[in-house]
Amino acid sequence: MSTGSPRVLPAGGDLTEAASVLRTGGLVAFPTETVYGLGANALDARAAARIFEAKARPSFDPLITHLADAADLEALVGAVPADVAALAGRFWPGPLTLIVDRPEVIPSIVTSGLATMAVRVPDNEYARRLIATAGVPVAAPSANRFGQLSPTRAEHVVRGLGGAVDVVLDGGPTRCGIESTIVDARGDRPVVLRLGALPVEELEKVTGPVTVRQGSSGQPVAPGTLAAHYAPRTPLRLRDAGALPAQDGVRCGYLAFRDRPADGWAAVEVLSATGDLTEAASRLFDALHRLDAAGVTEIIAEPVPESGVGRAVNDRLRRAAATWHVTN
Ligand code: TXA
Ligand code: MG
Repeated sequence: MSTGSPRVLPAGGDLTEAASVLRTGGLVAFPTETVYGLGANALDARAAARIFEAKARPSFDPLITHLADAADLEALVGAVPADVAALAGRFWPGPLTLIVDRPEVIPSIVTSGLATMAVRVPDNEYARRLIATAGVPVAAPSANRFGQLSPTRAEHVVRGLGGAVDVVLDGGPTRCGIESTIVDARGDRPVVLRLGALPVEELEKVTGPVTVRQGSSGQPVAPGTLAAHYAPRTPLRLRDAGALPAQDGVRCGYLAFRDRPADGWAAVEVLSATGDLTEAASRLFDALHRLDAAGVTEIIAEPVPESGVGRAVNDRLRRAAATWHVTN
């Protein structure tokens, strides 16, 4: 754990200093529409190495490169396959990460040695202004320590990474609250490598049928999508269809989709009282951060309906629960 604390600056203020920290090899955490990113100059191998160190991230887990504008893609990588161009044209800026060939200028540490690179244009004006002002592509994973909950507020970043990051731009809570959807659209039929904030149904309107091929265990398809991932410190268990599990006198937390459970829980979070999946996704990590801080010994989480962005919510819950099964 790093000691010290980062400089926290308002994302709506003057971004020249943060941009210069980025350009000169420092680490700047910034808001995107999905989660906060931990940014470094993607052209600078040493800066990228600092990301892996700050997160305690294994070197086999490649980073996503962020651009300020969709038009910057061609300048960086040249022409891209038709489906990649179509998806970028339709959904950027937005919560969609696309796989392209890694250009020479991007050091291989950024892609963990892969010949491909993940890239996106975030739909957050502060993020895009920061990247544009820095004038370089920005490599940024989620700004949490490896395997832990993704940050949806600047406070989460400060608490999780502390002085390991130079500057944190505070842009308030993120809009989507769940990471981008990752798609490899270079072949005949696009492949979803990570479910995320952009629903599969939306992709299919542009490209026709896609394949969802997520790594769940063993060798993951997107190397970072390990089965045990996105986990609170508190053990988490998925509620199955049956009756509520007995609490055995221990202090349990409950993560509900829409209906508040009967009394008896030490802490309860409801993701969306109206049953809205987009709202539920936006509140997921925030709710888990709060349950984690509530001093409960176990969290029981209810799955949400398996459609739209609900698939990504359930994916994150299953991964959080997998950690519990591994360690208990
Ligand atoms: O919403 C997001 O995508 C956030 C914000 C900050 O943009 N970023 C994010 O980054 O979630 P991270 O590092 O937590 O997850 C990146 C994922 C990992 O699972 C990694 O394995 C995968 O992207 N990835 C990166 N490059 C890849 C590549 N060339 N091929 C396949 N998967 C790749
Ligand atoms: Mg992450």
